[in-house]
Amino acid sequence: MDDRQSGLTSGLVEQIDIGVIILDSSLRIQYWNSFISQCSGKVLEQARHLPFTQIFPEADTRHLHRMLVQVRDHGQHVYSQWRDNPYLIHLPYKPASTPGALMLQNTLLLPFHDPEGRQCFGLLLYDSTDLARRDEQLDAVLETLSGKQAEREQLLKKLEKANSQLLQSEKLAAIGQLAAGVAHEINNPIGYVFSNLKTLAGYVQDLLHIVDAVDGAANLDELHRLKRSMEYDYIRNDVEALIGESEDGIDRVKKIISALKDFSHMEEEAFRCADLHQGLDSTLNVVNNELKYKAEIVKEYGQLPEVECIPSQINQVLMNLLVNAAHAMEQFGRITLRSNQEGDWVWLEVEDTGKGIEPHLLNRIYEPFFTTKPVGKGTGLGLALSYSIVQKHHGRIEVSSELGQGTRFRIWLPVQQPTPDSAGSPPL
Ligand SMILES: Nc1ncnc2c1ncn2[C@@H]1O[C@H](COP(=O)(O)OP(=O)(O)OP(=O)(O)O)[C@@H](O)[C@H]1O
Ligand SMILES: [Mg+2]
Repeated sequence: MDDRQSGLTSGLVEQIDIGVIILDSSLRIQYWNSFISQCSGKVLEQARHLPFTQIFPEADTRHLHRMLVQVRDHGQHVYSQWRDNPYLIHLPYKPASTPGALMLQNTLLLPFHDPEGRQCFGLLLYDSTDLARRDEQLDAVLETLSGKQAEREQLLKKLEKANSQLLQSEKLAAIGQLAAGVAHEINNPIGYVFSNLKTLAGYVQDLLHIVDAVDGAANLDELHRLKRSMEYDYIRNDVEALIGESEDGIDRVKKIISALKDFSHMEEEAFRCADLHQGLDSTLNVVNNELKYKAEIVKEYGQLPEVECIPSQINQVLMNLLVNAAHAMEQFGRITLRSNQEGDWVWLEVEDTGKGIEPHLLNRIYEPFFTTKPVGKGTGLGLALSYSIVQKHHGRIEVSSELGQGTRFRIWLPVQQPTPDSAGSPPL
């Protein structure tokens, strides 16, 4: 290195904010830069040629000796971090820091040879106080974050618990609602069947009275008189009406009971892979009589794989949708059946050109016993049953309806029933 070069180098070394100390092979101080002078408060001229550990006795530690062994014996560069050893030497006068506060140091000790070929060591000291402070802040942030994470996990757990309680209470509410609905629905027909029975019992008494009189009557006129006085003609007409009405009432109760049985017997059949188009076609055959005078049927089937389901229950859902569509027709219309696959899901659609559903009723149609049909026509259980069947299949029912235009129901089903931990949602 020529003079100019070494002048440049030492100019640089005097300027940088890194401590530079040069030691000879027996660790005597040869040189340090102005950074070390400023920060240590010591004078280089008084320290030159003196042992390093005499000038900086605090450095005489196992740490320094370990570094030296590696540098001297193995010729390695040894870097050590403030985290392992915060201070190699004490530097209390670092500019812009609190006086007296020691400078945290990262250090590099390396071997080199001077121009005459003598072994020397360079000791570089980097100020890592700011870095350490940032590290500490980072640690604090990390700690807060992990606290927050733990809080979040706890909240999630609470939420899950609340959710399952809610589900439970929703189930209970649904059962309560169902029971109240059943009671209400059955109460009415049972009420009038009971009162009809009472009236009929009175009529039977009167009729028996006439029949008993046959034996004791003196002549036919007396019997005729008795018959007239009992208003036989009125009784006769009323008996027929009462019996007819009672039969209707019992029929209605029977219908409700059988729908309820469908609810409770839903566990009976097993899941198996089935062709949904085949199920739809055979359901169409069953309800054809209801449909053929109400609408033309248009099929727009897509490609469907076999779907894991309880076929009879899916057919029942389809039947409910088809019958509802037919009932919604105010004049001869069209029922379009569509299907398709999207990833792991399939959907079936029943669209009608019927009268539509009023927007404010859209969220009530799945309620048990909700019906807008005249008394005796609908039980209001069709969609409630369909909903629970689809739910049991881990699927979803969607409805969109426009008043006066028509209604479209779409059932989403997973191709495969999920294992307990793989349940997903159909694409939106
Ligand atoms: N396709 C549709 N178009 C118009 N309204 C519909 C349609 N489907 C269902 N609804 C409305 O939803 C109500 C509830 O339907 P749901 O099938 O549950 O009972 P319901 O048809 O009235 O009686 P049930 O099916 O028990 O004989 C119906 O009364 C009707 O108001
Ligand atoms: Mg219905």
